[in-house]
Amino acid sequence: MADEVSKKRVLSCIQPSGMLTLGNYLGALKNWKNMSDDYDCIFAVADLHTITVRQQPAEFRKHILDTFALLLAIDLDPQKNILFLQSNVSAHSQLAWVLNCYTQFGELNRMTQFKEKSQKHADNVNAGLFTYPVLMAADILLYQADLVPVGADQKQHLEITRDIAMRFNNIYGDVFTIPQPFIGKEGAKIMSLADPLKKMSKSDENQNSYVALLDDKDTVIRKFKRAVTDSQALVKKADGKDGINNLITIYCTVTGKTVAQTEKEFEGVGYGEFKLAVGEAVAKELAPIQEKFNYYRRDKAKLEEIYRDGASRAQYLANKTLGKVMKKVGFIY
Ligand code: TYM
Repeated sequence: MADEVSKKRVLSCIQPSGMLTLGNYLGALKNWKNMSDDYDCIFAVADLHTITVRQQPAEFRKHILDTFALLLAIDLDPQKNILFLQSNVSAHSQLAWVLNCYTQFGELNRMTQFKEKSQKHADNVNAGLFTYPVLMAADILLYQADLVPVGADQKQHLEITRDIAMRFNNIYGDVFTIPQPFIGKEGAKIMSLADPLKKMSKSDENQNSYVALLDDKDTVIRKFKRAVTDSQALVKKADGKDGINNLITIYCTVTGKTVAQTEKEFEGVGYGEFKLAVGEAVAKELAPIQEKFNYYRRDKAKLEEIYRDGASRAQYLANKTLGKVMKKVGFIY
């Protein structure tokens, strides 16, 4: 294993925009946990990003604490890793402003997530929604991250982060590490159970389209039983079988089995039985997380102690980069 000095830096964040889903878990959080043994890891709840969509304050506060408690519930050690709330570290907003001035309108205008979200929230296409990837670039570049574990939907945001960093470095010298996305081979894009052509999303209005990490066993199984599939009754990955492909991916990612093993295991088995097996495997994976979530979420004082400590360690690292940036640009800092 790499020693402390040569460990690569990993950073990633998650928005507290609702109850986290199985998609967030399989696409991102599971990798965070896996990487936390071998890398120097920093993980944050990206609460500043979340107000690009209007939030009800009491609910927003609850979602922030729920999301933070879930990071602990998946066994991310707050001593070994830095875990914090993005809005608690002012350097994120400060660097985002500077980087805004090194990002082109045309680049941001190409972002598919901006296009999708501005259609979905047509009554509130605010400037924050547009410059959202710049704040994300600030999150990453402040910590000189080498690797950023994310789901496939964030790839474009990683590309613009790299472009902004390279542009800045070209002008001022080596200020930022150029980060690489880390996208898992399996589970990088978990699809909706109700419409397998759409990504599973916590902001989906149809609650049957996603499995929430806190759904109880009966709910998980019911949602899988209702999952949209095809009429072939063949548990095999193939083009056009989007529903079944998604369920096989979920089953493999959760159990660690390969696609071939899974297809063999369910040869000649009907969809009803297969869906039940997927639901049971997922519920089994979530049960210990839910238990630990309840433990951490109850103790508000302990949670606060952990996110405050995380923020002060994060702020220390972030300020080093911010100071360098401000001086390079010419500010009296
Ligand atoms: P967010 O909060 O939408 O999602 C958190 C993580 O979950 C992944 N994810 C998925 N993976 C597989 N299948 C799905 N259906 C699925 N849905 C979500 C996302 O790819 C992400 O990795 N902008 C980011 C948060 C962010 C961030 C950052 C990430 C803010 N600053 C800096 C990395 C680095 C977001 O909205 O993710």
